[in-house]
Amino acid sequence: MAIIRAEALEKVYFTQAEKIEALKAVNLEINKGDFIVINGPSGSGKTTLLNLLSGIDKPSGGELYFDGFPLGEFTDSERTVIRRDKIGLVFQSFELIPVLTARENVEYPLLLQKIKRVERRERVDEILARVGLAEMADRFPAQLSGGQKQRVAIARALVTRPEVVLADEPTGNLDSEIGQKIIKLMLRLNQEYSVAFVIVTHDLSINKYAKKLIQIKDGILSLREVNSHVEDSLAKCLEK
Ligand SMILES: Nc1ncnc2c1ncn2[C@@H]1O[C@H](COP(=O)(O)OP(=O)(O)OP(=O)(O)O)[C@@H](O)[C@H]1O
Ligand SMILES: [Mg+2]
Repeated sequence: MAIIRAEALEKVYFTQAEKIEALKAVNLEINKGDFIVINGPSGSGKTTLLNLLSGIDKPSGGELYFDGFPLGEFTDSERTVIRRDKIGLVFQSFELIPVLTARENVEYPLLLQKIKRVERRERVDEILARVGLAEMADRFPAQLSGGQKQRVAIARALVTRPEVVLADEPTGNLDSEIGQKIIKLMLRLNQEYSVAFVIVTHDLSINKYAKKLIQIKDGILSLREVNSHVEDSLAKCLEK
């Protein structure tokens, strides 16, 4: 069963002057272990789509299913729990809390989940080591490079052991070489933790890492490519 399924999803925004159909009849399934890249130009509806998939915003039409249950049937507090426990979020601008260290930023969602201290410590140390930041755990965000900040954000998204990570332009503020490293790191974590990733971006250079490549244009999704060999090619590039 799909972790998240969108059926005929629609989003309409109204401003004083106009009605904007940001998403039109979107069908999408996110399954265990997926690595989906959704590519589209500015204004095509990428952020709108992620806001719906994460339950931050509500659709104007259609339905979203979490483990087969329609989201419309959950209460607001149940929706908050789904978002907290099932979904990890990564953003273009990292969204780290400036007054907390890297370690504290990663620990924060575990506090919300009321995980005990000893387990928090173990899980934070494990994931920080996994993203290569064990040495920088006590630095504040302002003392980290862009790529390092994004690795903290990825660690924070994964520490709760979500089933899916939704990433909005995760390489948008990074130079292209660092951006490629971040995507490869995500692909590795996708394999190791079998957590699904959905990455929305206008950066075409990410497309080659997609196991499933989807195009979004004017709020309409179309499947471009399913690439089951991506893991083999990744393995080769990691050997080098
Ligand atoms: N709160 C809002 N009110 C009105 N219109 C909005 C709102 N948010 C987004 N839109 C419009 O909906 C469309 C899709 O916007 P969205 O932010 O999803 O695009 P995007 O693909 O994420 O773009 P970018 O690559 O620039 O981040 C655009 O036409 C945008 O102007
Ligand atoms: Mg956007």
